[in-house]
Amino acid sequence: MSHAVSYSIRDKIGVISVDSPPVNALSQRVREGILDAVRKAQKDKSEAVVLCCKGRTFIAGADITEFGKPPLEPGLSEVLSAMENSSKPIIAAIHGAALGGGFEVALACHYRCAVAGARVGLPEVKLGLLPGAGGTQRVPRIAGIRAAFDMIVSGNPIAAAKARDMGLVNEIIDGDLVEGAISYARDLVDSGAPLKRIRDVNIDPATIEPGFFEQARKRVNARARGQIAQDRIVSCLEAAVNLPIDKGLKRERELFIELLTSPESAAMRHIFFAERQAAKIKGLPRETPVREINQAAIIGGGTMGGGIAMCFANAGIPVVLLEVNDEALDRGLKIIRKNYSITVKRGKLTEADVKKRMALITGATNYADIADADIVIEAVFENLDLKKEIFAKLDETCKAGAILATNTSYQDVDAIAAATARPEDVVGTHFFSPANVMKLLEVVRGAKTADDVLATVMLTGKRIGKVCALSGVCYGFIGNRMLTGYGREAQLLLLEGCTPQQVDSTLEKFGMAMGPVAMGDLAGLDVGYKARQSRKAEGDDPRPYAVSTRLVESGRFGQKTGAGYYRYDSETRARVSDPEVEVMIREEAEKFGIERREISEAEIIARCIYPLVNEGAKILEEGIAQRASDIDVVYVFGYAFPVAKGGPMFYADQVGLKSVYDKILEFRNRHGEQNWEPANLLKQLAENGGSFADLDQRPA
Ligand code: 3HC
Ligand code: NAI
Repeated sequence: MSHAVSYSIRDKIGVISVDSPPVNALSQRVREGILDAVRKAQKDKSEAVVLCCKGRTFIAGADITEFGKPPLEPGLSEVLSAMENSSKPIIAAIHGAALGGGFEVALACHYRCAVAGARVGLPEVKLGLLPGAGGTQRVPRIAGIRAAFDMIVSGNPIAAAKARDMGLVNEIIDGDLVEGAISYARDLVDSGAPLKRIRDVNIDPATIEPGFFEQARKRVNARARGQIAQDRIVSCLEAAVNLPIDKGLKRERELFIELLTSPESAAMRHIFFAERQAAKIKGLPRETPVREINQAAIIGGGTMGGGIAMCFANAGIPVVLLEVNDEALDRGLKIIRKNYSITVKRGKLTEADVKKRMALITGATNYADIADADIVIEAVFENLDLKKEIFAKLDETCKAGAILATNTSYQDVDAIAAATARPEDVVGTHFFSPANVMKLLEVVRGAKTADDVLATVMLTGKRIGKVCALSGVCYGFIGNRMLTGYGREAQLLLLEGCTPQQVDSTLEKFGMAMGPVAMGDLAGLDVGYKARQSRKAEGDDPRPYAVSTRLVESGRFGQKTGAGYYRYDSETRARVSDPEVEVMIREEAEKFGIERREISEAEIIARCIYPLVNEGAKILEEGIAQRASDIDVVYVFGYAFPVAKGGPMFYADQVGLKSVYDKILEFRNRHGEQNWEPANLLKQLAENGGSFADLDQRPA
């Protein structure tokens, strides 16, 4: 038997125990081990079999590292079929999470028991896949089509108690799981409980409301952003209703293979590993000590500070919010309360949860109240002098060893650190708006930031539910620095011939959550306008801001004034094209002597996306980002870049770096080198047939 799986008999109950760290994924060794054990159990004196796992979790799914490689025997379906057809009842004993193929293993068992803290789910959709080992056929047979749809299309796991209510788990075990599972198995044998095979259940098509699948397909396609798995999941659920199980399983298999070989899933699997990789800092050993974080403080309770405070409270970490005066503090706390109440209205939190979280947030106007904080995050106005002043105060007040972090978007973290006598404790923590929702946390390493500070911030980021990526110090760090070219080209495209609608819809079709022009309206055009006024410099190219400036000067600030590049319906907030704006755009183009022309979708995409790639390559070259895949993580989790495209660097690899480079040269010839000077790294990779992925594989 494989070393990853052991088998023994206790009190006439066979115990199959999977032990394959870190998450007991269904690698070939695990599949083979389970199959061998199930076969053995058919012939020995056991009367029932318990399948359990060692370590932190039940089986967390298929082994994703095996995807894309030649299949290894035995396949998962063979293992599941042996289990389901076992002559003795098999009972899954779940702790941690039974996910994907892991939950499908449990569903092929005759009974499932779990500890109260366990979760079960089918998260394949998050990898651009569908459950490929019976999940789409078995879940609806127990839980019904609607519940199966919600579970499989969202990919979100559910708690054991809910799973029991849905019939997906039969028994909740208190105390030791394996002991409890063995005794549950014994009771089943003693009471002559039948071999419950989910495959024997049929779904009566008459129970499905007419038009359900049509509606479901419409709903998922409206939100797809380039993903195709959700659509195929609907097809599988349809098969679960209309076909006998073996045909349904065959259909599921075919669609699973289609997805497994799709570029969308390759991109999403890339992001799965990139996300985990990004949390690792090159040169910092795993055993780097971390500081304890039991108390946080936030300076500034505005848009960002309030959201950041919520992140800590949501994770159960007490947090003090410090503001300039009581009035500002009240305002900040009120907004937090309002945000929580919206979540309650949506049914995602209870009043009791909110009470608990609000109790963890205390207000303050005095620095003495934050002296004990283990981490302080400054989120005041974006003004270097103000930030320096605050850090000098923090240096005076905070206890030794406290981590002093700034949420600045653009300021020099080293200059801020220099305002203290402890620059090694200073770090950038760049959250994204809304901070309690957006997953990304850019961790900015200053020249003197200590290793244990970085390790602690990475860990704390994960604790408060963020995906962390490391950036060096530069203007705008990884994300905002790259964004400059994206926004600039969108604006220039307007002058050259596009309508706002054309630019936005093309990029939305590409998969961006919102096009760049509409995004300007959402953020408020006045914000950039004010920033430009305050740092106007000689030689600035006025063209990229011409239309925006004109709009602001005619009172159109974007959604907040009901009009910007678009007009907004006062009730639905739907955007509507505005001929008045098209006139303004034409006039501005004329002013600059730009001849307007037809512009293809392919050009719109290349003009907006390739600056991200080119700047990303410069960022890599300068060592600001550790890996190309970290840049992808920044864009997918911080800027809603379509996950089905895998981030800008992965996308460029898919297009082919030679082709990207050639296009950039073409744009340079047409538009000048100021905006289109190719990165040396991109040039080298393109000329040598290389890719960003190869670069990431190289040893550090
Ligand atoms: N295959 C291979 N490696 C996996 C894996 C998997 N299914 N799941 C996790 N890992 C690896 C991670 O890459 C990471 O490796 P590293 O330490 O080298 O970076 C390590 O396990 C630990 O993972 P996390 O850092 O994510 O650990 P957490 O404790 O935070 O989370 C988890 C644990 C909730 C299980 C999380 O890892 C997770 O969500 N895993 C993926 C689950 C999943 O998507 N399963 C479905 C797979 S597809 C499938 O099953 C197809 C089937 O239908 C046929
Ligand atoms: P904001 O204007 O909404 O809030 C700033 C808050 O700081 C105000 O409530 C103000 O009263 C308070 N404040 C000012 N001086 C203070 C002081 N001396 N002591 C205590 N509190 C003080 O600003 P916002 O948008 O929250 O931005 C804060 C920081 O976060 C800025 O550095 C900004 O660049 C950065 N940031 C902003 C993002 C955004 O989308 N708004 C995204 C990422 C970073």
